Amino acid sequence: MPDRTFGGLDPEQFRQYGKQVIDWIADYLANAERYPVLSPVKPGEVRRQLPAEPPSAPEAMDAILSDFDRVMMPGITHWNHPGFFAYFAISGSAPGILGELLSAALNVNGMLWRTSPAATECEEVVMDWLRQMLGLPPEFEGVITDTASVSTLIAVAAAREALNRRVREDGLAGRSDLPRLRMYCSEQAHSSVEKAGVVLGLGQAGVCKIPVDAEFRMRPDLLAAAIDEDRRAGWLPFCVVATVGTTSTTSIDPAPAIADICSRERLWLHVDGAYGGIAAIVPEMRQVLDGCERADSIVVNPHKWLFTPIDCSAFYTRHVDTLKRAFSLVPEYLRTAEGDVGVVKNYMDYGVQLGRRFRALKLWFVIRSYGVEGLVSHIREHCRLAREFAVWVDDDPAFERLAPVPFSTVCFRYRPDGIGDESELERLNADLIDAVNATGEAFLSHTQLSGKYTIRLAIGHIGTQEKHVARAWQLLRDLSANLRESMPAF
Ligand SMILES: Cc1ncc(COP(=O)(O)O)c(C=O)c1O
Repeated sequence: MPDRTFGGLDPEQFRQYGKQVIDWIADYLANAERYPVLSPVKPGEVRRQLPAEPPSAPEAMDAILSDFDRVMMPGITHWNHPGFFAYFAISGSAPGILGELLSAALNVNGMLWRTSPAATECEEVVMDWLRQMLGLPPEFEGVITDTASVSTLIAVAAAREALNRRVREDGLAGRSDLPRLRMYCSEQAHSSVEKAGVVLGLGQAGVCKIPVDAEFRMRPDLLAAAIDEDRRAGWLPFCVVATVGTTSTTSIDPAPAIADICSRERLWLHVDGAYGGIAAIVPEMRQVLDGCERADSIVVNPHKWLFTPIDCSAFYTRHVDTLKRAFSLVPEYLRTAEGDVGVVKNYMDYGVQLGRRFRALKLWFVIRSYGVEGLVSHIREHCRLAREFAVWVDDDPAFERLAPVPFSTVCFRYRPDGIGDESELERLNADLIDAVNATGEAFLSHTQLSGKYTIRLAIGHIGTQEKHVARAWQLLRDLSANLRESMPAF
């Protein structure tokens, strides 16, 4: 008898619980606002409610679902809440969730074309759709990875391979024939860039951070000077990472000038557009990727700002052969006739991992369900709301804006008259964030800019409307006034 129970659930039970779970999701998505956006649990509170040892006997699905509600839900920070403004707000979106569900059901491993031709071919097509949406030239070929961190890691690995210095074969350590490698990014670049350097054996010393201008953009003159100085000191420069939409302020590095330097110096240019690059699908924002068509590789994250459930990162390069040279290693058991003759793509050759989920399916659902116009209108609206919020900040003398707003993120701080001391301002603004977050209606996070403690408001959830942004502003004004009044010196 074939096992039709799939872990204790027969098809009828699966249907029943499946419907129950879908109903739960539909209610949750419709009412996510009912929950406090930032989970109020204390460290250890969830763990204490979970048995330390696994159950030896099967447990009923009713009990599991009830514990999900009772134990897990209080420990959830609600990224689906329209008042989520911390880090970069994201949305799974209903079509994306359906795609994710089907992908889990199929449970294919798309390592080879033959291990699910649809997974490979859908990925090829969807990545090309997204390339067209971004306005990138057709030479760019795409592969989906889990995160921008991994996309940048494989970009830097490909850049290292492009040196043709036998790093793949001989490694880096103890080589008298190979100078130390150096890569460059701005001091505002995401930590994943430095992490790529750490993982790939360059060490943190191999990652040179270039200062930024007053608007937090990489200074190309200082990049050129650093490369020059490094060459004279015996380093081997090989890669520059420019960012479109830096994590703290969403600043845009000047890609055209950086691309000029890279072509003159023969360096690989990788663009980290994890968040901001997506905005290039909006026709009037296309210029955010100006110069990036000359890059060697680029990453944008559909799971950040294209309403696709985490995880889904879109990596493009115009040098797929170099990427494959860095990563392809085919043991006999994975050889296939169609792979040997090169008529298909085997995505296991394009990165670190062998096994890979069918992530393209959810992106296919999202792009088809919204249509490009639908996606564009949401991103455009997020940017409009951010500009509006920035005007409110600018118009209030007790607040100060700390960076331009090229996308949907605003950096600012509370700076009432009579407080000039940076540490006092830091405490005041940190308390303000805590006070806003404690309301459960909005969730904000912070950064440091030029030594100033900075509040960030990042708009990115599909359900966020003007009223949610206005409510966050009202909370900021009311709670800052309360804090000011309760200060001892006042
Ligand atoms: C500019 C930028 N690059 C990379 C990342 C890392 O993204 P991921 O979580 O997909 O690795 C982030 C995260 O916010 C980011 O802002």
